[in-house]
Amino acid sequence: MSDATREEKAAALEALRTQAATCRKCELCEGRTNVVFGDGSPDARVLIVGEAPGKNEDLQGRPFVGAAGKYLDELLSIAGLAREDVFIANVLKCRPPGNRNPRPEEIKACADYLRGQTRVVSPEYIVTLGNFATKFILRTECGITRLRGRLQQAGRFKVFPVFHPAAAIYDQAKRPVLEDDFARLGELLA
Ligand code: URA
Repeated sequence: MSDATREEKAAALEALRTQAATCRKCELCEGRTNVVFGDGSPDARVLIVGEAPGKNEDLQGRPFVGAAGKYLDELLSIAGLAREDVFIANVLKCRPPGNRNPRPEEIKACADYLRGQTRVVSPEYIVTLGNFATKFILRTECGITRLRGRLQQAGRFKVFPVFHPAAAIYDQAKRPVLEDDFARLGELLA
């Protein structure tokens, strides 16, 4: 929907959100409190793609509201961005129990929602956070450590893979790398 107005995009996203709200395509629906569809500007230049909701996101129904979200806000500001400027979504819309890794069948069941969000928002850049988002968007088996900070092309989208903010919370050595990558994103957008 690259030529659609902001209002048309907002309406298309709301229709997808309504559809996702009652989704029962995989077993994650049994344990969820909320479907975490995603939030942000319907005509954002940048789509941020995370992995899956955690405990706080499941409780609040919004993406990146916990510790990783707080750090993501800092990273966005390094790139000269605020949350309202971007659209934030996840590969999975429901929380895996105990925050385990997404399973292939869950990723497959959920794929149409992220594809729909990408088509509607029609961003210029997709920033993939960590392995699951990067592998999904780039259809690659290549890991994030090799791909991070290297601008890729996927169809008409520029894709910029970076470490997941949660990984940089656990492993402080990743912080300067991640922060440099967001500074580079800011340069790309300027
Ligand atoms: N981690 C993610 O990948 N997504 C969220 O929404 C929160 C934490």
